[in-house]
Amino acid sequence: MCGIVGYVGKNKNALHVLIDGLKALEYRGYDSAGIAVINDDKIKIVKSHGKIKNLEEKLNEVDNSYIGIGHTRWATHGKPTEVNAHPHKAGSVTLVHNGIIENYEELKKDLRKQGYKFKSETDTEIACALIDSIYKTSNNKLLTLKKANEMIKGSFAFGIIFDNDINNIYSMRKDSPLIIALGDNENYIASDVPAILSFTNKYILLDSNEYAVISEDKIDIYDNNLNLINKDIKEYEGTKEVVMKNGYEHFMLKEIHDEPKVIENTFKQFIKNNDINELIDNMPDLSKYDNIDIVACGSAYHAGLIGKSLIEKFADIPVNVELASEYRYKKNFNNEKTLTILVSQSGETADTLAALRKAKQNGTYTLGIINVVGSSIAREADSVLYIKAGCEIAVATTKAYLAQVLILSLITINKAISNNNISKEKAKLILEDLKKLPNMIDDLIKEKEKFEIIAKNIYKDNNIFFIGRGVDYAISMEGSLKLKEISYINSQAYAAGELKHGTISLIENGTPVVAVVTDENIAEKTISNIKETKARGANVILITTQKLNEKYGDSDFYDQKIVIPNISEFFTPILAIVPLQLIAYEVAKLRGENIDQPRNLAKSVTVE
Ligand code: G6P
Repeated sequence: MCGIVGYVGKNKNALHVLIDGLKALEYRGYDSAGIAVINDDKIKIVKSHGKIKNLEEKLNEVDNSYIGIGHTRWATHGKPTEVNAHPHKAGSVTLVHNGIIENYEELKKDLRKQGYKFKSETDTEIACALIDSIYKTSNNKLLTLKKANEMIKGSFAFGIIFDNDINNIYSMRKDSPLIIALGDNENYIASDVPAILSFTNKYILLDSNEYAVISEDKIDIYDNNLNLINKDIKEYEGTKEVVMKNGYEHFMLKEIHDEPKVIENTFKQFIKNNDINELIDNMPDLSKYDNIDIVACGSAYHAGLIGKSLIEKFADIPVNVELASEYRYKKNFNNEKTLTILVSQSGETADTLAALRKAKQNGTYTLGIINVVGSSIAREADSVLYIKAGCEIAVATTKAYLAQVLILSLITINKAISNNNISKEKAKLILEDLKKLPNMIDDLIKEKEKFEIIAKNIYKDNNIFFIGRGVDYAISMEGSLKLKEISYINSQAYAAGELKHGTISLIENGTPVVAVVTDENIAEKTISNIKETKARGANVILITTQKLNEKYGDSDFYDQKIVIPNISEFFTPILAIVPLQLIAYEVAKLRGENIDQPRNLAKSVTVE
């Protein structure tokens, strides 16, 4: 989604900071970019359609500067054109914006009556004109921003420069993230930490309905009553390494290689000494709840489906998994005996955030499973379990998904112990397996050649099916999503038993079918379904466990297979997804696609 960077200070050329920052935000997904800087006491705006390199080519039009704001735009209102790119300027106000102004049509009508004319199709230009129009009468910048905040419906993070105040950047935000980063006699604004990591790791989180005035040596932050407030200065734990590829061809590949460490870092938060009592002490107590809602989007939703499968099977609590975009507008049957779990890597996904607020309004206890510390969902949820995935740059999530599934597994193990569904002795064995998990992932990643061979076999196909039953169906859904989002091959996941109710009509000679068979209890049934596709000419790629391979592997119902090691059922879904991520990666690579920034997609979806 859109990205914001701003700089004020004399130590550096603002142009370089803005371009460096925008490049660090490229991973969020965007389709145009622009900057505004002060040159010879006047604002100069340069924008371009497409990638930042297009913008760079035009930058010789401007000189050095000490202050500026920059933006990468992911089109929502109006096409990705140069005119629609930010910054926008109206009267004396130049502005960049993340978020969506929902009432912009209404505001536009009023502003037109006042004589404003608009060049772009964006909601942002309306916000810009609104601020200008209020400022013309109030002549007070902070009062203007407060009034604009009251009039705008929707979400926003703004970086603003006023023509008559060219030493300050003004900022305010509501429901779209914004940080203010601190340098030595220089300061920054950014929508996301990676934008400033080349320069500093100290930052302040601006909250919704707060206003900031930022100069090279001062940061003043005001609450919604315009009283000056003190804010904590945070230090980002990671280094710039996290936003570098470190020799890997793509961030996605690097992040898959990060998975063993991420898994270890995630469980070590709760279990340091391999003692089951630590887990019991550190996991939320589910005994208070009669049912659980898991609400999320995209891959986080698929992690929720794995959670459902495990919790229902081992912890005996009914779980309802909902897409946040659906949950927020439907009737919810929750009450004080419901636990609502919000799963989100970014902690900023607009639909998941709205779902969280709705759940809280209904009086249910909310638990976030989040990666980004201090993100909106992390701050608003009643409690949080952090995954320790570190910064994830590739749009297609890999390591964060694994860690989300791990947390849901740990929650389940804890409850299964307290339910006496598993004995403490058995739990100890499970923890032994947990310790082995990072190495097992590492070994799987090393089977690169196998994934390459499978990819060569399927990368020219136009339709690929993923099938499985139960937890294997949930794994298939994530495998299918990974493939389609980065390779653009039409791929669909189906519950294997459902195939013959329609989808099997699409199977022709050679159609690839990726079949996930890891659940012993239902393996035979799935294998029957696989045979039905094989009988119709499918090219079957089997993902199975060592144990099931020993039992069924000699049969001829598949063409190629990947065998994952035996491990406790709680962790099999974590191992099973790794080959699917790598097959998707190799397929996209063979097709020459932009793996880290697939078209039309965004890393953090902060609009509805
Ligand atoms: C986007 C990303 C997905 C992610 C989804 C939910 O669509 O491309 O990879 O799964 O948003 O994001 P969240 O940050 O809430 O986990």
